[in-house]
Amino acid sequence: MKKIYGIGTGPGDPELLTLKAVRIMKEVDVIFAPNNKGKNMALDTAAEFIEGKEIVFLDFPMGKVTEEIYIQNAKIMEENVGEGKAGAFLTIGDPTYYSTFINMMEFFSDDVHLEIISGIPSFVGAAGRSNSPLAFTGEEFSVIDRIPLENPKADSLAILKAFKLEEDELDRLERFGFEYKYIQRASLPEEIILEDKSEILKERDYISLILARRKK
Ligand SMILES: C[S@@+](CC[C@H](N)C(=O)[O-])C[C@H]1O[C@@H](n2cnc3c(N)ncnc32)[C@H](O)[C@@H]1O
Repeated sequence: MKKIYGIGTGPGDPELLTLKAVRIMKEVDVIFAPNNKGKNMALDTAAEFIEGKEIVFLDFPMGKVTEEIYIQNAKIMEENVGEGKAGAFLTIGDPTYYSTFINMMEFFSDDVHLEIISGIPSFVGAAGRSNSPLAFTGEEFSVIDRIPLENPKADSLAILKAFKLEEDELDRLERFGFEYKYIQRASLPEEIILEDKSEILKERDYISLILARRKK
C-alpha cells in the first residue's frame, strides 16, 4: 500500500506548524506542492524541515482547475510514491476546507491510503494575531469565501479570499451591521492588519481575509 498525507502547514509562521506535521514531513519519501509561478507558501513554511527532500510540483492553474486536472495530479502523485512508501501534499492552513487536497481526494485509487494532518486554519491564526474573538458561547460563526447577498444569521464571519472584495461588498457588510478587520499574511513578518475600508481596497493580496463581527 502507498500512503499519501495531506498536511496543513498553518498560516505561515513555521512555529505554528504542528509537531505531527513536522515529524511526517521529515519521514515521507517525497513532498508534493502546487506550483504557483515558482512561489509556494506551504513550502516556505516547511522549508527548514524538508531540506534535501525530493519535491514534485503540480500545476493547478488558478481559476481554471478542472476535474481532469485533479485526476491527472492524483495520478502523478501515485506514480511518484513507491509501493510501501509515503508522500505528503502540503497545503496552507488546514486541508479540510477550501483546499486542493480535498478536491483531489476522490480521485486516488484504492492502492492509496489517505491521511489528513490538521494544520492551524488561517482564520484562527488571523484571529489570534488581531486579538479578534471568533465566537462567544451561544454565538454562530461562519466561514465563507464571499459576502452574502442577504444578511447572514451568523454573529461572526471569516471571509476568505479577500483579494476579490469590492467596495460595494464591504458597504453591504456594513449595512448588515458588521464591523470588520482585514488581515493580510497573518503570522508572517510582512503581516498587515487594517480596519479602514479605503486602505483595505488598496491591497490585493491573495493571502488575506476579513474577520467580521456583528456590532452590539
Ligand atoms: C485556498 S484558501 C486556503 C484555505 C486554507 N485551507 C486555510 O486553512 O486557510 C486560500 C485563502 O486562505 C486564506 N489565508 C491563508 N493563509 C492566510 C494568512 N496567513 N493570512 C490571511 N489569510 C490567509 C486567504 O483568504 C486565502 O485566499
